[in-house]
Amino acid sequence: MISNLHFDTEQIREQDRHWIHPWENFKTAGTTPRTIIARSEGIYLTDTEGNRLIDGPAGMWCVNIGHGNSEMAEAIAEQVRRMPYYSPWSLGNVPAAELSAKLAALAPGDLDHVFFTTGGSTAVDSALRFVMYLNNCLGRPEKKHIISRQDAYHGATYLAASCSGKPRDKVLLDFETGFIHHIGSPNPYRRPAELSVEDFCDARIAELEAKILELGPDRVAAFIAEPVLASGGVIVPPPGYHKRCLEVCRRHDVLYISDEVVTAFGRLGHFFASEAVFEVVPDIILTAKGITSGYLPLGAVLISDRLIQQLSGKEAESGMFANGFTYSGHPVVCAAALKNLEIMARDGFMEHVREVGPYFQARLRELADIPIVGEVRGMGLMACVECALDGDARDSLEVGYDVGARIDRHCQALGLLVRPLGPMCVMSPPLIITKAQIDELVGILRKGIEAAMAELRAEGIWKG
Ligand SMILES: Cc1ncc(COP(=O)(O)O)c(C=O)c1O
Repeated sequence: MISNLHFDTEQIREQDRHWIHPWENFKTAGTTPRTIIARSEGIYLTDTEGNRLIDGPAGMWCVNIGHGNSEMAEAIAEQVRRMPYYSPWSLGNVPAAELSAKLAALAPGDLDHVFFTTGGSTAVDSALRFVMYLNNCLGRPEKKHIISRQDAYHGATYLAASCSGKPRDKVLLDFETGFIHHIGSPNPYRRPAELSVEDFCDARIAELEAKILELGPDRVAAFIAEPVLASGGVIVPPPGYHKRCLEVCRRHDVLYISDEVVTAFGRLGHFFASEAVFEVVPDIILTAKGITSGYLPLGAVLISDRLIQQLSGKEAESGMFANGFTYSGHPVVCAAALKNLEIMARDGFMEHVREVGPYFQARLRELADIPIVGEVRGMGLMACVECALDGDARDSLEVGYDVGARIDRHCQALGLLVRPLGPMCVMSPPLIITKAQIDELVGILRKGIEAAMAELRAEGIWKG
C-alpha cells in the first residue's frame, strides 16, 4: 500500500509537460490541467489531489482483474528475481513456453501457434508481415492486399494505423494506401434510414465480397476485423455479420484475422470471443491488453496450425520469418500473463462477466431517456453512450464534438472517469465490478450527462 504518499500536483504537472502523450494536441498541450493518477485499488483510482474515481475504461480496456492485485505483484517480483530477461532468438524461457501452450489450449480451433509481441499494434504488424511472408513462401507474391473497415482501430504502428479507419485519426499523418483498403463500418445505428438492420447487414456482406472481386481474389490476402469495434465506439455488428464475412473470406481464399486486443480475456465473458460469441474460428487471432490485465505490456498473434503446416516440412519452400522483438516472450511479462490467466480461471471471471454483463447493459440503457442520448449500446462489460444533440443520429458528429469531454469533466468531479470519444462515452470497467458498483457508475454517469446537457442548453448549443 502506498496510501500515505503525498504528491505535489503542480510540480508533477510541470514535469509531465516533457511527456508527449498519445494523441497529443501540440497546440493546446500543457494549457489544460491533466489529472494525474497516483494510486489504484480494485475498480478505483486516486489522483494526486486525493480524489477517488471509478475507473470506467479500466485503464485503456485492459485492467481486467482490477488494480492492485498482490498476487500479480508477487508473480512479477518472483520472476524478476529468478530470471529477468534473456534473448528469445534461439533460446527459450519457462514462462513464455508455458504461456504459449496455455494460449494454444484456450484458443478456438487449431490456433495452436503463438508469436509474442510487445502490444496490440505490434501484434497487428506482425500478423500482416506473417501473411505477406506466407504468401511469398507459397509462391503468390501478388496476394498482399488487406481489407479493413471504417471505424476500426488497430493501433499506432504504420501498418496497424493504416488498417485503422477512424476519420479523425487520419489527419496530418501518412498511411499505406496502396494495399490496405477499407469497407464500410457495420454500425447499425448509422445505417441508411431506409435500410432495416438485416438489409444493412446484407449490404455490408455484399460490399466485402465486391471489394474482394474488385481487387481480385488472387490479390487479396486478408480481412482484419475487431469482433466489436472498440475505439470506434463499441460498435456491435448486426447478428450473423462475422459468420457471413468468414464465409465470404473462405469462398475467396482470403484469411480472416480477428483483432481480439479488446474482446479477449473476459470482456465479453469468454477467454476468446471469436468463436464463443460470434461463431467464427479465424485463421489468426490478435491479443494484448487483458492478457496481462495491463500490469505489463504484452501482445500475441495466434496462428492456425493449418497455416503453419503450409510452411513446415521438407517440401516447404519457406525460410526464416525475419520478424521479432527484443522483448518477444519476455519472461517477466509472460509470468504476469500466466498469473493473470490463473486468477481469471480460478476466481470465475468469465462466469462473473456473463452474470453482471447483462445487468451493466440494462442499467446503462436506462440512460436512453436523457434527451441528448442518442443510443446506448454494447455487450458484456463494454458499452457506449452516444449523444445526438439534434436528435438525429446521422448528424451528431457535426454537432458539439466536445460533448463527451464535457460529460467526462462533470463525471470526474462526481467520482467517475469515462472515456470520451467525440459525442460518445465509452465504458469498459474492470471485470471485478459488482452490481452495486455498476449502480454507482450509472448514477454518476446520469448526473454527468445531465450536467453537460444543462451546460449545453445554457450556452445555446443545445436547443432542446
Ligand atoms: C482492437 C485494437 N487493436 C489494436 C490496438 C493497439 O494496441 P496497443 O495500443 O497495445 O498497441 C488497440 C488499442 O486500443 C485496439 O483497441
